[in-house]
Amino acid sequence: KTIYLKDYKAPDYWIDETQLTFELFEDHALVHSRLALCLNTERHAETALPPLVLDGQQLELQKVVLDEQELVEGAYQVDSDSLTLQPSRAQFELALTTRIEPQNNTALEGLYKSGSMFCTQCEAEGFRKITYYLDRPDVMSRFTTTVIAERERYPVLLSNGNPIASGEHEGGRHWVSWEDPFPKPAYLFALVAGDLCLLQDSFTTMSGRTIDLRIYVEPENRTQCDHAMDSLKRSMRWDEEVYGREYDLDIFMIVAVNDFNMGAMENKGLNIFNSSCVLAHQDTATDMAFQRVEAVVAHEYFHNWSGNRVTCRDWFQLSLKEGFTVFRDSEFSADMNSRTVKRIEDVTFLRANQFAEDAGPMAHPVRPDSFIEISNFYTLTVYEKGAEVVRMLHTLLGEEGFRKGTDLYFERHDGQAVTCDDFIKALEDANGADFIQFKRWYSQAGTPRLNVRSEYDAASREYRLHFSQVCPPTPGQPEKQPQVIPVRMALLDRDGNEIPLQLEGKALGNEAVVSITEAEQTLVFENVPNCPLPSLLRGFSAPVKLSYPYSRDDRVFLAKHDPDGFNRWEAAQGLAVDVLQGLVEIHRAGRPLNLDQRLVEVMRSVIADAELDAAMVAEIIRLPSEAYLIELAEVADVDAIHYTREWLRRALAEALRDEMSARYQILAAAGSGAFSAKADAMAARSLKNSLLSYLMLTGEQQVVGWCVRQFVEATNMTDRQAALVALVNSPFEQQREAALAEFAERWAEYPLVMDQWFSIQAAASQPGALDRVRKLMEHPLFTMRNPNKVRALIGAFANQNLINFHALDGSGYAFLADRIIELDRSNPQIASRLVTPLSRWRKFEPKRQELMKTELARIMAQSPLSPDVYEVVSKSLA
Ligand code: ARG
Ligand code: ZN
Repeated sequence: KTIYLKDYKAPDYWIDETQLTFELFEDHALVHSRLALCLNTERHAETALPPLVLDGQQLELQKVVLDEQELVEGAYQVDSDSLTLQPSRAQFELALTTRIEPQNNTALEGLYKSGSMFCTQCEAEGFRKITYYLDRPDVMSRFTTTVIAERERYPVLLSNGNPIASGEHEGGRHWVSWEDPFPKPAYLFALVAGDLCLLQDSFTTMSGRTIDLRIYVEPENRTQCDHAMDSLKRSMRWDEEVYGREYDLDIFMIVAVNDFNMGAMENKGLNIFNSSCVLAHQDTATDMAFQRVEAVVAHEYFHNWSGNRVTCRDWFQLSLKEGFTVFRDSEFSADMNSRTVKRIEDVTFLRANQFAEDAGPMAHPVRPDSFIEISNFYTLTVYEKGAEVVRMLHTLLGEEGFRKGTDLYFERHDGQAVTCDDFIKALEDANGADFIQFKRWYSQAGTPRLNVRSEYDAASREYRLHFSQVCPPTPGQPEKQPQVIPVRMALLDRDGNEIPLQLEGKALGNEAVVSITEAEQTLVFENVPNCPLPSLLRGFSAPVKLSYPYSRDDRVFLAKHDPDGFNRWEAAQGLAVDVLQGLVEIHRAGRPLNLDQRLVEVMRSVIADAELDAAMVAEIIRLPSEAYLIELAEVADVDAIHYTREWLRRALAEALRDEMSARYQILAAAGSGAFSAKADAMAARSLKNSLLSYLMLTGEQQVVGWCVRQFVEATNMTDRQAALVALVNSPFEQQREAALAEFAERWAEYPLVMDQWFSIQAAASQPGALDRVRKLMEHPLFTMRNPNKVRALIGAFANQNLINFHALDGSGYAFLADRIIELDRSNPQIASRLVTPLSRWRKFEPKRQELMKTELARIMAQSPLSPDVYEVVSKSLA
């Protein structure tokens, strides 16, 4: 059943107070709720009370008491997703008892067990699997929660807010009560019960309040929480400094669980995390994992204001909190680390993944206007494109104007459930701005193309830039209106210096943000002494596909001379894309490949540049991913893309062998001392390992020796894992198998490290990968019940091992479809996410299209099929 934004109606009733009591047992749980309800008098007169319809799924209703009167069966109606009854007063109290079985909840939504611990995930619509309720974000209520469980097994009992009372019951059971003073929607409810230990710290807020900070984990992980705690404290300080936002409860808790569908959840005062986004120690976690922990801890913390204090009116507004919060966490990471490198990483990710989503069958606006299953809309578009939209607003208003806008937003809407329009309105009102046209970014799907041409007239010293924008059709949206595209830009002279910009008689400085608002628009720059080279869309100032007819020489020039770091990378990347696209054509024509020396020179110059941030060098020498090249292609030839990209990597390794090995050896020697998690140490590791992976392509015995040595002697997981990846992707079978075996033996007790081990093998591009993946599914540490394991093995194979996944016999497709069908019975959310690679069938040539569609049709024919998988598969085939 499709739900539409246009059908939104405020609820018939509100819930002022919610009192919950959980009795947890080994084979079930009893949930007692006591709700204080009242009529929404803006919608209904007290003389005509509508029926109360509460959401509820997979519940056994045991008792219904209305105003202290137990209702008999027949006095209420229950179906598979609701409980309906007729109130007789405008204000009344309803008490319910439901029985649930968290132990058998494999969907990991609602109350479930992860290992020996009870935990919850209620966003978006999981609370209805705990008890009957008005499970919608515009119903905000004050919660008091009592948890009762066996003391021995569950010494720690947590819920939202502050602990207010606790005690003992007979039979070894105990209880704790929690009270959350802030009204909240049910999706922010959380409960945890387990045998957990904690890392404790404190934070003093800007107004001088002391907050008790706690990270709860299973005892064996106690030594891996320091980085998360440190990230939390830095996030709290940053939100005070940058947004003026102070934490509001006396206690803030994070709990790590092993079985979790997503990254983490911002439940009020009690964030629940996938352990992969909390635990980090140099022995077991890579630098990338450290950065992910920092970003996710910050993201969930920031939600306390952008999400919890001000929440969403309905789920179509999801990007109100997610887009804004992703923007906030990416700015936090940029402030903590290298700003340019963070931007490069985010843009790379967006282009390879969100652009593909925007061009595929599930394309939807940042604010979708319909859905079948909301879980399917926790997407790259809502999150990452949503963050880009907020970033553009920040760019257009400037730092100060944006802050004025967010101050007004938080002040005006504190305690409310609001819409994306309310957010924009606050930014407008605080700045006297007009974002009517800008709001098309929220309602139009698809990635706009921005084509730019230029003209220089020496006589008049005028330089013209002609812009034209067009947004391709997407499902349900054949036609698009022009959008507001902020273009941060400069004009460069022959020495790479910025020319002062003068537009319509106005001096704009050396760099300006110009807004393109029309389908066709020309900017005339005056007083331009010589024909310049434009540096456009600096910092990726809008999520568009920019095209300007740069020659390869232009790109080389920009890669070397653009004063803007991001655009230097962009130019090098553009050159590599151009070279690779050229090679694909040559390869398809059956002609021999040749190496463009200009690319070699750009890479040589950065590898030798000891001044340049090593992380920047690593980004510049990284070739565009296969996924991005597929996204860019009209019809993608997977074999040709894989073959030529590998060919180019090897050719670069051979051409730059001396420079690469010299720099590798310097970095290896410098990095062999004590471990540091500082930005420059991480940058050095990143470059070193990128060089190692190139050097391994030369096949030289000496390099294999370096790699094995690095694997054995590494003082941290980043270096060890990089060496393992290089060996696994090499033809040196003996070293490869030895390393894999040793790694598995050493880290068998560490699930997150073993996830890496599964994933590295699943992504290795040698022939026979599918057989290896099938074998790994039999490994005693693998289980389809743990989402991290599924992502590590099945996800990595389908998303990162493109050459094997797209095998022409269709075996990869059939394998994935089997897994989707299997998983749909236990965990529909995870099953649905696995459909993505198959949904992209239109990108490939007819033979693969047929094979992929056959598998989609096979999934479609399953019965029963979850709404989650049904939605994605049916839209993919439409
Ligand atoms: N609000 C969470 C976050 O972005 C994501 C939770 C989504 N969960 C889900 N099952 N769809 O921080
Ligand atoms: Zn979020």
